[in-house]
Amino acid sequence: MTTSSKLLWVLHGPNLNLLGTREPEVYGSTRLDEIDSGLARLCAEHGYRCESFQSNHEGALVDRVQQAREREVAFIVLNPAAFTHTSVALRDALAAVAVPFIEVHLSNIHRREAFRRRSYFSDLAVGVVAGLGPIGYRLAMQAAIESLRGSAAGAAPAAAEAAHAPRRAPRG
Ligand code: DQA
Repeated sequence: MTTSSKLLWVLHGPNLNLLGTREPEVYGSTRLDEIDSGLARLCAEHGYRCESFQSNHEGALVDRVQQAREREVAFIVLNPAAFTHTSVALRDALAAVAVPFIEVHLSNIHRREAFRRRSYFSDLAVGVVAGLGPIGYRLAMQAAIESLRGSAAGAAPAAAEAAHAPRRAPRG
């Protein structure tokens, strides 16, 4: 696969379609389409293709993740939203396809309610960005691109290491 043909995915979980109007004091006023178009531009500037997908349905996200292998997705930027704290099914799908991913949260989940502190994804993720608002997606995408460049250059990228690291169960 050439670098220019590499495909990066952005996946958004439930209620993120409401960004812009949803609890702006927590999630800010940027709409999801603005986040996605910014990420598409960033990818294009670096010669990557980018596809974004949002769903309010756990099964739809699982189905999408299962397609990542056959679509030859090189990296995923994922905000699982509320499924962060509940979805073994989505976690298992990511473990099954073993595509490296970075977990993103607009808000700082560690400064909020106790139930938000547990993530079913963080121990599988290459990295986690939380609390920086929409720029967090951008930073995650930049890290993904850097990581892929590293692997193209023959370096041992953190992403590749993380994708093959032993997987632990999340702590309860
Ligand atoms: C979120 C944090 C989650 O706890 C919450 O359920 C969301 C959004 C974030 O981006 O800050 O829907 O993932």
